[in-house]
Amino acid sequence: MIKINNLVKVYKLSARKMQELKTKNPEKIAVKGVTLEAKPGEIYGLLGPNGAGKTTTLRCVATLLKPTEGDIQVCGFDTVKEGEKVRNSIAFLTNEIKLDPNFSADYMFTFFGRLHGMTNEQIETRRNELFNYFGINAFKDKKIEELSTGMKQKAAIAVSLVHDPEVVIFDEPTSGLDVITAKSVTDYLRKLRDDGKVVIVSTHIMSEAEKLCDKIGVIISGQKVCEGSLADILETTGTDDLEDAFFKLYSQYSAEESAG
Ligand SMILES: Nc1ncnc2c1ncn2[C@@H]1O[C@H](COP(=O)(O)OP(=O)(O)OP(=O)(O)O)[C@@H](O)[C@H]1O
Ligand SMILES: [Mg+2]
Repeated sequence: MIKINNLVKVYKLSARKMQELKTKNPEKIAVKGVTLEAKPGEIYGLLGPNGAGKTTTLRCVATLLKPTEGDIQVCGFDTVKEGEKVRNSIAFLTNEIKLDPNFSADYMFTFFGRLHGMTNEQIETRRNELFNYFGINAFKDKKIEELSTGMKQKAAIAVSLVHDPEVVIFDEPTSGLDVITAKSVTDYLRKLRDDGKVVIVSTHIMSEAEKLCDKIGVIISGQKVCEGSLADILETTGTDDLEDAFFKLYSQYSAEESAG
């Protein structure tokens, strides 16, 4: 279970960053009070435009960032006070964290397995399962830097899942993947869901949110503006598909923000 309670995240900007963003404001409020719950046996999708705060939210859940306000529980553990326990319960995948380019997928898999305190036998069993499923055996001994984008992504996914965690946090898991590879990833997420894991993903691909997610939280400018199953969201917005719902929410929210 993931429980996010009134999460606020403010980034302090360096002088250089302020210049880069052409702003005089030394702070950027990336997440403005998000509350949500993702349950076992459910795929929760954070859907939002670029800069909405999806990655920031997921990084807070994964203990890589400390909330400015609010708190987060993962499997009953507080992400700030019990970070170690949280990290042992999760798989975290994001574009910004790359596997070391000088090592092979095989090496990284063993390395992270040992880091999680697994025995060699446990690591081998998981390796067989995950490398077979994602078709990694063919390139498992090549250096990460020699792999294609899709191969790297598959390797990163397998490594993140080595310890068979209860909670899976994937930031844009299919970004850069061809349709076949993307499908193998989303099918695996469904399998994890069916095994009773908690799965939370971020995406800005409407069709992916529509097909994959049991529950969708639409996040715009750091706020959750709508939440529910696809049917719930269509009903609330009075639309026929998620893209229309999204545009409607976006224009509504932007109008409110400029008015208030
Ligand atoms: N390290 C940082 N320092 C300052 N501002 C940041 C930092 N990281 C993100 N931001 C800002 O916080 C806001 C939210 O960014 P975030 O990466 O969470 O969005 P996102 O929803 O993941 O977007 P995308 O779809 O482009 O990945 C943006 O305005 C971004 O510019
Ligand atoms: Mg992001």
